[in-house]
Amino acid sequence: MEGLAGKVSCILFFLLFTQTVSSLKKPLKQNEPCKRLALYYHDIMFNGTNVANATAATVANETRLGDFKFGKLVVFDDPMTKDAQLSTPVARAQGFYFYDMKTDYNAWFAYTLIFNSSDYKGTLNIMGADMMMEETRDLSVVGGTGDFFMARGIVTFRTDAVAGAAYFRVQMDIKLYECY
Ligand SMILES: *[C@@H]1O[C@H](CO)[C@@H](O)[C@H](O)[C@H]1NC(C)=O
Ligand SMILES: *[C@@H]1O[C@H](CO)[C@@H](O)[C@H](O)[C@H]1NC(C)=O
Ligand SMILES: *[C@@H]1O[C@H](CO)[C@@H](O)[C@H](O)[C@H]1NC(C)=O
Ligand SMILES: *[C@@H]1O[C@H](CO)[C@@H](O)[C@H](O)[C@H]1NC(C)=O
Repeated sequence: MEGLAGKVSCILFFLLFTQTVSSLKKPLKQNEPCKRLALYYHDIMFNGTNVANATAATVANETRLGDFKFGKLVVFDDPMTKDAQLSTPVARAQGFYFYDMKTDYNAWFAYTLIFNSSDYKGTLNIMGADMMMEETRDLSVVGGTGDFFMARGIVTFRTDAVAGAAYFRVQMDIKLYECY
């Protein structure tokens, strides 16, 4: 009997405890990030001759599976700027994307934003699907270092310009919901 009472009070305590912990956790509001940075990503493709200017290169070509560049892999070291011009970069985006959808254009991005300026020093690590046919796409900020210690959030992509296969620009609206 005593053992049962002990078990019951144990369970009650556990329930109370978990409720208290979850009520202490502030609910996150999508329109209230703790930090926000809107930057532009410039992808200048290597075409075989523009060595000085290119910032991205195809390392594996598309396959013949599907019509949407399926299998193509691009590695980039792209400048991130505050405006849509190729002004002085405030960070670099280093990583890769590959096309991984048979029935439409979709690229999977995984990259690090490296900040090394007087404003910010540190990194943000980002990954997710870029469904190019959508007006905006949300990717995940899965972590951060330095000034972005343990950050998490969402990056909203919006295609800002496309110049054939040579260049494209994406606005990246970075919203962090965990800031320390
Ligand atoms: C590569 O890009 C450069 C700079 O945009 C251009 O001058 C050159 O003609 C291009 N080469 C090819 C093979 O497209
Ligand atoms: C290379 O970039 C510089 C500066 O961004 C630009 O002035 C120049 O026209 C570019 N060259 C080519 C060949 O695209
Ligand atoms: C991809 O295909 C293009 C066009 O056929 C070719 O010029 C290029 O060298 C190929 N790149 C790779 C990484 O195989
Ligand atoms: C950051 O910038 C400083 C000063 O320009 C430079 O000395 C340092 O090597 C840079 N660090 C990285 C990781 O690029």
